[in-house]
Amino acid sequence: ASTLAAAAQQSGRYFGTAVAANKLGDSTYVGILNREFDMVTAENEMKMDATEPNQNQFSFSNGDRIVNHARNQGKRVRGHALAWHSQQPGWMQNMSGTALRNAMLNHVTQVATYYKGKIYAWDVVNEAYADGSSGGRRDSNLQRTGNDWIEAAFRAARAADPNAKLCYNDYNTDNWSHAKTQGVYRMVQDFKSRGVPIDCVGFQAHFNSGNPVPSNYHTTLQNFAALGVDVQITELDIEGSGSSQAQQYQGVVQACLAVARCTGITVWGIRDSDSWRSSGTPLLFDGSGNKKAAYTSVLNAL
Ligand code: XIL
Repeated sequence: ASTLAAAAQQSGRYFGTAVAANKLGDSTYVGILNREFDMVTAENEMKMDATEPNQNQFSFSNGDRIVNHARNQGKRVRGHALAWHSQQPGWMQNMSGTALRNAMLNHVTQVATYYKGKIYAWDVVNEAYADGSSGGRRDSNLQRTGNDWIEAAFRAARAADPNAKLCYNDYNTDNWSHAKTQGVYRMVQDFKSRGVPIDCVGFQAHFNSGNPVPSNYHTTLQNFAALGVDVQITELDIEGSGSSQAQQYQGVVQACLAVARCTGITVWGIRDSDSWRSSGTPLLFDGSGNKKAAYTSVLNAL
């Protein structure tokens, strides 16, 4: 195969990227997007602040630009993200209690209903677990509405779009021995045992020297998959350059391919210059759109 998407399709998987609506006029960017990827995530345009800037006034124009571009090109879409402590609209940030719970559930329902039938998988809840050694939930206005806010969000999403896969998505959950990984694992185990609708777990996979690709990554993905959910690498980027970076990318691809229920990989941007990281070169294409060593190692590993 000569593209990432075609290579991933050989094993029934997808290869995606994050897309920013304001770059859809950049011909180099769009050329690589159309050629290499078969799954798209809106980098910011489907988040809570973008889609509900005023309470109960929804705005889908930028999200639609991305979704329509993807679908016109025969690509699928991962929805990102319905409920999150970050990038909330101003009106939501200081809400609490029942009012916030109902506003969150209304947001999940309205957005998932609007995009019904167009989304392969939704990140229903993003980043709800705490870093560090607690293995517990992150404090947030949503968490303070009650520990059941996550399952309430999943049930609302299922009711709104019964055919979308519903994912929990987080970062620093790659290393099996980390408390945060264990906390998320226990939540998914609990949801499966009680029939809370969850279909997949997303691993953001933002790696750097302080947070390298763990040698037990395959174990993590396999253990989650064994709970009866798909697993996906949802926001992959790896700081570094050259053969060291290429090798780490290869390791991530190999870990996914070794797990039958690892259904696909998404990188968080196209060129290094598109990365959310203010410095560094964490992606597969350089700033001019040339394929890097990391690109070749991914293509060959798929
Ligand atoms: C980032 C975007 O890439 C940036 O453009 C934005 O300023 C902040 O959010 N985890 C996530 C993504 O789930 O939504 C974040 O995206 C990166 C970390």
